[in-house]
Amino acid sequence: MKTRYLGRTGVRVSELCLGTMTFGWRADEAESSKILDAFREEGGNFIDTADVYSQGRSEEIIGKWLDDNNREDFVVATKVRFPHSDGANSVGLTRKHILFSVEQSLRRLCTDYIDLLQIHSWDPATPIEETLRVLNRLVEDGKVLYIGASNLRAWQLQMAIDISRRNGWNEFVSLQPQYNLLCRATEFELLPVCRHNGLGVIVWSPLRGGLLGGGYRRGMKVPPEERRLGVSYREGRRDVWDRYNTDRSWDVVEAVEAIANRTGRTCSQVALNWVMNRDGVTAPIIGVSSEKQLRENVGAAGWKLDREAMEELNRISMPEVSYPYDAPAEQQQWRGREDWNEMRQ
Ligand SMILES: NC(=O)c1ccc[n+]([C@@H]2O[C@H](COP(=O)([O-])OP(=O)(O)OC[C@H]3O[C@@H](n4cnc5c(N)ncnc54)[C@H](OP(=O)(O)O)[C@@H]3O)[C@@H](O)[C@H]2O)c1
Repeated sequence: MKTRYLGRTGVRVSELCLGTMTFGWRADEAESSKILDAFREEGGNFIDTADVYSQGRSEEIIGKWLDDNNREDFVVATKVRFPHSDGANSVGLTRKHILFSVEQSLRRLCTDYIDLLQIHSWDPATPIEETLRVLNRLVEDGKVLYIGASNLRAWQLQMAIDISRRNGWNEFVSLQPQYNLLCRATEFELLPVCRHNGLGVIVWSPLRGGLLGGGYRRGMKVPPEERRLGVSYREGRRDVWDRYNTDRSWDVVEAVEAIANRTGRTCSQVALNWVMNRDGVTAPIIGVSSEKQLRENVGAAGWKLDREAMEELNRISMPEVSYPYDAPAEQQQWRGREDWNEMRQ
């Protein structure tokens, strides 16, 4: 695996980030450790978790594993925002909850510092200035090296960056949005904001929760029992399957499969390679349930889909666009009487 810079920082991260939402849930501790070993062997150094994954178990498993490894060799990202318990203040991006949660994460991860602390999503109840001030403080204290955001709207992200900049505080260096062949609205505003501000982009659910990884077919009434989407379906999350089970999804799934057959790759390798080749993406975060899947998905690196395959996937996965995104990009460069770029010369 190659490494890339994380946004404008000088930190190098592997071109695939290991997601660990499955640790302590779809993968027990023994399997999770095997996944981490395999990821390290394959040259991976970038690990993403969150305080809430499996109620902290994911961080604990990583912490135990890090204890047997060289901490400095790994870039560990975690998140804060969602509730830990029913406590009235055990949630959100308040000074109180962030400071508490970071202490817990440091303890579970068996480490003195978090490489990248990300806010898991927006908190409508806490003034963003309070959040950004405490994040800045954590960086100054050395408990956190960099800060990032996840699941923000583009205006929220730009506003937060501007507030930090105005105050001379440390700014977000990365965004963690969903992005895959079945979720491309990320391209409308979020990716341009990241490009404009030099943010790294690490994307979640690059296989749309497994749907793009093969094994799912048009016409399936319910998802297979042994797969993650099947488990959540049986746990009552039927809305997820209903949202995924559309003709548009199956058109994309079938195109991925056809390209996989034509190129001798697997479906997951094709879908991940598409994400890795998109402008502005630093690394997809790969979620796996087993070491076998990890080894397969690492095979998404080290080669490139050809132009024909990229174009075909771009076309078939093209999202429906409406105003103001339906106007061609060049139109924004046209002022009315003369070309804006020419006038600037
Ligand atoms: N910031 C956020 O809000 C947010 C949200 C979600 C995730 N994340 C992060 O992003 C990471 C990845 O998200 P995700 O797990 O949803 O990613 P994903 O890549 O879309 O889905 C991963 C799932 O796909 C299936 N899969 C993986 N490799 C496969 C292969 N080679 N063949 C067939 N199926 C395969 C596995 O499920 P089955 O085998 O069970 O089908 C696996 O659990 C998470 O671990 C977490 O770190 C962040």
